Amino acid sequence: MKTKEQYDKYLITSMVAGFEPIEVAAASNTQITGTDGKSYLDCFSGIAVVNAGHGHPRVIAAAKAQIDKLIHCCTYVYYSPRAGELAQKLAEITPGALQKSFFGNGGAEAIEGALRIAKQHTKAYEIVALTQSFHGRTNATLSITGNRARKKGGGPYLPGISFTPAPYAYRCPFGSKDDKECAWKSAEFLRHVLKYQTGGKVAAFIAEPILGEGGILVPHEDYFKYVKQILKEEDILFIADEVQTGFGRTGKLFAIEHYGVEPDIMTMAKGIADGFPLSAFIVRPDIAQAFTPGDHLSTFGGNPVSCAAALANIDVLIQEKLVENAAKRGQQLMARLRKTQEACRLVGDVRGKGLMVGIELVKDAQKTPAAEQAKAVRWMCLEKGMLVGLGGSLANVIRLQPPLTMNEAEIERVADVLDSVLKEITKTI
Ligand SMILES: Cc1ncc(COP(=O)(O)O)c(C=O)c1O
Repeated sequence: MKTKEQYDKYLITSMVAGFEPIEVAAASNTQITGTDGKSYLDCFSGIAVVNAGHGHPRVIAAAKAQIDKLIHCCTYVYYSPRAGELAQKLAEITPGALQKSFFGNGGAEAIEGALRIAKQHTKAYEIVALTQSFHGRTNATLSITGNRARKKGGGPYLPGISFTPAPYAYRCPFGSKDDKECAWKSAEFLRHVLKYQTGGKVAAFIAEPILGEGGILVPHEDYFKYVKQILKEEDILFIADEVQTGFGRTGKLFAIEHYGVEPDIMTMAKGIADGFPLSAFIVRPDIAQAFTPGDHLSTFGGNPVSCAAALANIDVLIQEKLVENAAKRGQQLMARLRKTQEACRLVGDVRGKGLMVGIELVKDAQKTPAAEQAKAVRWMCLEKGMLVGLGGSLANVIRLQPPLTMNEAEIERVADVLDSVLKEITKTI
């Protein structure tokens, strides 16, 4: 395979644990096709990116039209119409008082900016994050990532970062068997962290509303309400990292809407432009004033082609009811997976919202993580023509994050393949 040889010789690939042996020639909606002509049903969407499906015709048309007019001018040197329109659109569709955006290119860049503006607004400098979290690969975003497997070898990290336990109900850090109680105890522990781990200069608490890389951990519906109350008492900003959960993925446009809580700052990337590189953070107008001339910029951020794609993408998600479809298809998928769970002791937990679903695999009743078996599931799914993701802080979670366009019949096929693969692998433990 020529491309594989080029990768081996000229690309740094030593950090990739498991390359999928597919040379991708093309992709359309829910299908990825290899150069060998084989097609796969895509349940990972390029890591939760192509929410409107691969190459949605309206997104492609908008991007092509923009390419003919203007590709780059620098959105922060000249006024770029698509960036203005997209910023207005984001203000309209994001919750609460969020109104002013800054555009970057990827998730980590958005979070870097969000941290900086939070610090400048509050004139404080400490950050509290969750264990099992993932926020990116730059120094600051790794500093707030709560997972040694991602951080090893990259330190020293930023000072002033504290972690509070994620409300991981299946393995509750406080030993609670009850979701709500686990959420309450996890939130209450934040008080302890603030009191005993920080110097009282905390600018922000940052969390993914549903933790993606950590293993699709879905906090109980009350968790962020408890947390927000504590943050209010302590005058600390709440940054919702919606990089992975945004743009309809969880059955709402933004996952924090499931929790009825308004963040002060929200970060977005991945699903924002159906595959075109773009990210943003959005803040309340009073927070936006914290930047003064020279404080922030991005050469490529808010690229007109990416912004045009994002505008079309958001219209598609809303007008073609893909957000509602994600909610329905997610319920369908989880109902089927729970049936499989009854017959398979390998399946410890099935959880998720919308089309962000995780299957946590365990070897026994003591919940020993089944990481090798998770790899085998991914491999067997591939052989059956279906692509799934792997993740979790214990590397034992199958991640299902397909395009939100997936129809009922395709979801049945996903559930059938997983049912047969999970039953097969259960026989080996
Ligand atoms: C929640 C979350 N935040 C931030 C990032 C980093 O995004 P990027 O890889 O675009 O820098 C990711 C990537 O997986 C993510 O899932």
